[in-house]
Amino acid sequence: MKFPVTRLRRLRVNEAIRRLVRETRLDAGDLIYPVFVMEGKGSVVPVEAMPGIKRFTVDTLPDEIESVAAAGIPGVIIFGVPSAKDGLASGAWAEDGVVQRAVKQIKERFTGLLVATDVCLCGYTDHGHCGVVEDGRIVNDSSVEILARTAVSHARAGADIVAPSDMMDGRVGAIRRALDGAGYEDVAVMAYSAKYASAFYGPFREAADSRPQFGDRRSYQMDPPNAAEALVEVALDLDEGADIVMVKPALAYLDVIYRVKEKFGRPVAAYNVSGEYSLVKAAAARGWVDERAVVLEMLTAIRRAGADIILTYFAKDVAKWLKEG
Ligand code: PBG
Repeated sequence: MKFPVTRLRRLRVNEAIRRLVRETRLDAGDLIYPVFVMEGKGSVVPVEAMPGIKRFTVDTLPDEIESVAAAGIPGVIIFGVPSAKDGLASGAWAEDGVVQRAVKQIKERFTGLLVATDVCLCGYTDHGHCGVVEDGRIVNDSSVEILARTAVSHARAGADIVAPSDMMDGRVGAIRRALDGAGYEDVAVMAYSAKYASAFYGPFREAADSRPQFGDRRSYQMDPPNAAEALVEVALDLDEGADIVMVKPALAYLDVIYRVKEKFGRPVAAYNVSGEYSLVKAAAARGWVDERAVVLEMLTAIRRAGADIILTYFAKDVAKWLKEG
């Protein structure tokens, strides 16, 4: 049926009718808020490259978590910033490590909140790579062992979800087996399955102090031009037991999110990363864009592409804006 019988503007004439036919909705219940926890006492340190984002010590964390829970956001993902680093990332799996203590505390005080943990070594190694280094190479299999040990220590502290972000081959299977072997069958794995070697992680590396000291991450993170390969990564991770698969970053990879959701139909998370956050913040601070409108449009696009879950530094603002209507 064509014009003049068909007039698509009929369903756009006012907000009530637009709302009625809206295809995609944003909900605070779909969001996960990233939180940085550092070693030390009594301090809160703003992340310069990410206006509005701060690093907390375990004792200053509860107020921040309270504000997340009060906003109706179902979960947080914890990133640790240890004070000591070494070649084997021993701080990553230390029983009294900063993430382990933070998780324990959150689960004691905020029983209903989901706690996910980023499982990676880059913040804990002296060279800043996501795996163990031998002769200048990032070695896969011994890294996987340490990652599995790290995931189990997070589960022991009370994590509901562990999220490996290292991009070593075979780590999801190893983590699943290690969790099951230790009695944590109910701890879910949210795999950073299609994680690209992206320039959009720049501000995060200040927040997590995880910049590689030599080279870059291109021998383990995905090459940005590839999409078919992302489907192989996702298939392998699902096969190895991933419960949720993630695409990261989100905005420059909406096509990948779309393909993953179409092909597998499994829960898909997308990480609206630090660079995506800081670009908006910088432009908004100059009055060049309307922050609220731009953020809601971006996150809606991520949902429309097929993501069920969005990890975003905007989560608290978005929850507030959605409440205001
Ligand atoms: C750790 C990790 C990174 C991010 C999440 N987990 C950084 C990296 O791979 O260098 C990026 C998050 C962001 O930019 O917001 N491997």
